[in-house]
Amino acid sequence: MIIVKTIAALREALDSSSRIGVVPTMGNLHEGHLELVRAARAECDTVVMTIFVNPTQFEDAADLARYPRTLEHDLALAESTGVDIVFAPSAEEMYPEGFATTVRVDGAITEVLEGAVRGRAHFDGVATVVAKLLLAVLASVAYFGAKDAQQVVVVKRMVQDLGIPTRIAVVPTVRDGDGLALSSRNSRLTATERERALAVPRALSAIAQASETERDAASLRAIGDRILQDLEVEYLEIVDPDDLSTLTTVHAGALVVVAVRVGRTRLIDNVSIPAR
Ligand code: PAJ
Repeated sequence: MIIVKTIAALREALDSSSRIGVVPTMGNLHEGHLELVRAARAECDTVVMTIFVNPTQFEDAADLARYPRTLEHDLALAESTGVDIVFAPSAEEMYPEGFATTVRVDGAITEVLEGAVRGRAHFDGVATVVAKLLLAVLASVAYFGAKDAQQVVVVKRMVQDLGIPTRIAVVPTVRDGDGLALSSRNSRLTATERERALAVPRALSAIAQASETERDAASLRAIGDRILQDLEVEYLEIVDPDDLSTLTTVHAGALVVVAVRVGRTRLIDNVSIPAR
C-alpha cells in the first residue's frame, strides 16, 4: 500500500489506464468504511482511500477538535482490506493560502434536515472537499455510504452539475449486531446511552414494517415518535429519495430519516421503505 500526502504524489502514483475506485473518508475507520472499500475492491483495479478530517464541514470548532484521529490504525485496516493508495493530505495541501473557492449546492436538498440543523455551511464544506477529492483522483467510481443519505443526494447533484466524470456508488448501511448503524461517534456513547440509542434502529424498523399496510406518512411518523419518546429528536421525516421533499403518502424507496441527540452525541440514521 502506498501512502501519499500531496496531490502531485497522488497523480504520480495513479495509473490512469486502470479502473480506479475512490473511497472518501475522514478516518477513524470502522466496518462501514471497510464495506465501501470491499465494494470498490470488487469493481476496480486500483482502490484509493482518502483520509482527511475536513475542517470546513464542521460548524463547531470543538466538534472538529475532538474528532478522533487514528491514522496508524486506519492505515493498518486500509491495507488489510485491500486499499492500494491512501491519500492523507494536510489541511494546507487541501486549502493552501489564497484558497478562495466554495462549491455550493443550492436549493432544498441542502436546506432541509442536516442543512437545517447544522447550517448550510456544512454541505458547502462537504461539496467543496468532495469536488476537490474527486478531481484529484479522477476515479471511475466513488463509493459513499447510504448512512449519510443527504450527503449522497448532495454529492450526486454536485457531480452531475459540474460534469465530474465519476460515477457515485452507494453502499448499504453497516449495522452492529444490535441494529445500531456504525459511526465514529458511537464510541462516545456510554453503555446506558447506547442502550437508549437502540430506539433509533427500532423506530426505523417499526416504520418500515408498518409501511406494508400503512401509507400515511403522519401515522408512520407517529409510530416512530412513540419509540423515540425518551430521546431528543431533531427530526424524523419521510422524504423523497431524490429531492428530499417531505412526503404525505409513502412509496417504495421513500427514505425515513432521523437525527437524535443522546447525551452529548448526535446520531443520524435512515431506512428505505421496502416494496410491498
Ligand atoms: P466519514 O464520516 O468518514 O464517512 C466516510 C464514508 O463512510 C461516507 O460515505 C459514509 O456515508 C460512509 N459510512 C459511514 N458509516 C457507515 C456505515 N455504518 N455503513 C456504510 N457506510 C458508512 O462522510 C464523510 O466522512 C465526509 O463527509 C466525506 C464524504 C469524507 C467528506 O469529507
